[in-house]
Amino acid sequence: MARRRNNVVALAILVVIFASCARYASAVGGTPHSDFSYKVGDPDGPDKWATLQKDWAICGSGKKQSPIDVAKVEVSKDLGPLEPTYKARAAVVQNRGHDFMLNWTARNGDLSIEGKKYTLLQVHWHAPSEHTVNGTHLDAEMHMVHEESATKSKAVVAVLFSTKAGTPSKLLGDLKPYFERLSGKTNDTEEVKGTVDPSTWIDKASGYYRYEGSLTTPPCTEGVLWTIMSKVEDASKEEVDSIDRVKKSSTQPNARPTQKINSRIIRYYKAGATEAPASAPAPAPAPAPGPT
Ligand SMILES: *[C@@H]1O[C@H](CO)[C@@H](O)[C@H](O)[C@H]1NC(C)=O
Ligand SMILES: *[C@@H]1O[C@H](CO)[C@@H](O)[C@H](O)[C@H]1NC(C)=O
Ligand SMILES: *[C@@H]1O[C@H](CO)[C@@H](O)[C@H](O)[C@H]1NC(C)=O
Repeated sequence: MARRRNNVVALAILVVIFASCARYASAVGGTPHSDFSYKVGDPDGPDKWATLQKDWAICGSGKKQSPIDVAKVEVSKDLGPLEPTYKARAAVVQNRGHDFMLNWTARNGDLSIEGKKYTLLQVHWHAPSEHTVNGTHLDAEMHMVHEESATKSKAVVAVLFSTKAGTPSKLLGDLKPYFERLSGKTNDTEEVKGTVDPSTWIDKASGYYRYEGSLTTPPCTEGVLWTIMSKVEDASKEEVDSIDRVKKSSTQPNARPTQKINSRIIRYYKAGATEAPASAPAPAPAPAPGPT
């Protein structure tokens, strides 16, 4: 009798646990990426994006595409420090098929850039990094997507991560369980427990690079103002693996190849800095083996 009552209690507890798991919401807006891939040479790979849909033509013809290699930069003292007013807000994480996106469900704070006020909308991750620094990819890149409400023009702040030191990242560590649970579940979303506070995600002591580019996924829309933090953040290999497992079966790179810089200039700002960073260009790749 006592045992049966225990079973009933256990069953009731299970029901409660399942009910809270069922807080997986349905789709949350945003464009799920289903119509393109990242593998050069594939019929829907990045070299073919421009041909896949009529309004994706600029992916091929655009002169201000992203990502780019950040190499030669011009110090620009008048850009000034970044002063976001981000807040802790409820958020959901979604598997968009090619990446994980975190979306705040209430209006987050703003970031003023060159006299315009942009609101933080969503954040998503790429592994390896999309932008390269002097020819070198980092292990991951976070894109904080902002929009100016009147014009809908976009400003993205990119944070690069390296696993070299092996030190975990607080922000990625907090989100890793969500990435792991959503692995392989295209279009599924999960509410983040409590709130997500992005106010420490941009290191105010870091310098940054600024240039004009585009979205790095189709439709590759131009007119996006890019800010790439020059300080590379630490992350653990496990954290990067978790953002790399959008599809469950294998880790899958989701980085568009770098695009031509054309006539664009990359500006660099760091409080007090009068010189560009000294990081050396990547060594030339080993010559390809000749025909045998
Ligand atoms: C983010 O969430 C808000 C509120 O739920 C929704 O209106 C918006 O479309 C979402 N944005 C994206 C990019 O999914
Ligand atoms: C995800 O959503 C998109 C758009 O609603 C849809 O085209 C696609 O088939 C969905 N993918 C899966 C695996 O459910
Ligand atoms: C790339 O390397 C060159 C040569 O060392 C240096 O002048 C430049 O500032 C470096 N760029 C970055 C973004 O580190």
